[in-house]
Amino acid sequence: MATQTINKDAISNLSFVLNKPGDVTFEERPKPTITDPNDVLVAVNYTGICGSDVHYWVHGAIGHFVVKDPMVLGHESAGTVVEVGPAVKSLKPGDRVALEPGYPCRRCSFCRAGKYNLCPDMVFAATPPYHGTLTGLWAAPADFCYKLPDGVSLQEGALIEPLAVAVHIVKQARVQPGQSVVVMGAGPVGLLCAAVAKAYGASTIVSVDIVQSKLDFARGFCSTHTYVSQRISAEDNAKAIKELAGLPGGADVVIDASGAEPSIQTSIHVVRMGGTYVQGGMGKSDITFPIMAMCLKEVTVRGSFRYGAGDYELAVELVRTGRVDVKKLITGTVSFKQAEEAFQKVKSGEAIKILIAGPNEKV
Ligand SMILES: NC(=O)c1ccc[n+]([C@@H]2O[C@H](COP(=O)([O-])OP(=O)(O)OC[C@H]3O[C@@H](n4cnc5c(N)ncnc54)[C@H](O)[C@@H]3O)[C@@H](O)[C@H]2O)c1
Ligand SMILES: [Zn+2]
Ligand SMILES: [Zn+2]
Repeated sequence: MATQTINKDAISNLSFVLNKPGDVTFEERPKPTITDPNDVLVAVNYTGICGSDVHYWVHGAIGHFVVKDPMVLGHESAGTVVEVGPAVKSLKPGDRVALEPGYPCRRCSFCRAGKYNLCPDMVFAATPPYHGTLTGLWAAPADFCYKLPDGVSLQEGALIEPLAVAVHIVKQARVQPGQSVVVMGAGPVGLLCAAVAKAYGASTIVSVDIVQSKLDFARGFCSTHTYVSQRISAEDNAKAIKELAGLPGGADVVIDASGAEPSIQTSIHVVRMGGTYVQGGMGKSDITFPIMAMCLKEVTVRGSFRYGAGDYELAVELVRTGRVDVKKLITGTVSFKQAEEAFQKVKSGEAIKILIAGPNEKV
């Protein structure tokens, strides 16, 4: 694709700001500037809305992260580089990039061990007190901006963030070729976990949800089996999933991408002896957990938080090679001024992924 240089002075920095729960405004905010020689300035082209953005919009808080001052929403973005700092060698104006929206300290023991997603001093977009990417211009370290290859669109670029979440979850699950994987939840993250598990060679992929239409989509996307979770015990749901998928001994890997307590309980009953369970979903902080089953089956239980070293690169590569078709998840694109309607649609469950075009982008 031809590169195009953009005059940053001609760019609006209109931003979508959450003032307090349910109260959003558009505000022309001061343009960021390059303050570090390794930074770049990016004009944001497209931003996807995520459950966490909707949660802040509705409730003003997620756990101990509370929106106290007005905050720009959004963290799933792709954009075009408009200016680079003097030390930047990897990017030039006109390059199209996916933005990794969390910036670690690079100095703590976690950062130095290559697990920067666990950095206690992480600065993460649209996690209070930090502003998000539903804005015109974004300043970021160049190494957290991933150049999109030719053939990968900016719209697909906005899906790299949730895909990187799924890549990290599947890496935590250590999925091997030929394995069976059950994914609880068929929202964007669950669908992408199923797709990444397939790319890792899983041969049986079961999606579980409480909404039939989500499972219909999952079946057309990449799941080999789907199951509508019933209002029965976790053991009985687990038994039904095993029967349906022909896994009498249980699944090698179970991933929760729902955060729902019944789904987490079912997961531990679905996983095989010695299998692996990964918690990707974030719901209630404390739940009743079938700890005896976990113990007796010697289940390996792992958490998964955001993304770390190599996850964005792999996400871009999975899209470039066509192994994960993120385009299918894009329900539609709206103009910047329609941002609130897009939030409404995601909240009501009408859309899988809606993209909001940047304030300088025509739809
Ligand atoms: N670990 C991380 O770093 C990380 C990053 C992003 C999102 N998340 C979390 O991942 C989860 C999925 O994200 P998403 O954007 O796909 O959200 P989503 O809300 O679109 O998807 C959740 C899905 O779970 C389904 N569900 C609800 N109850 C269920 C049950 N009992 N059994 C099976 N399915 C059930 C819902 O119908 C929905 O389709 C969320 O909890 C989100 O907070 C975690
Ligand atoms: Zn997100
Ligand atoms: Zn750190």
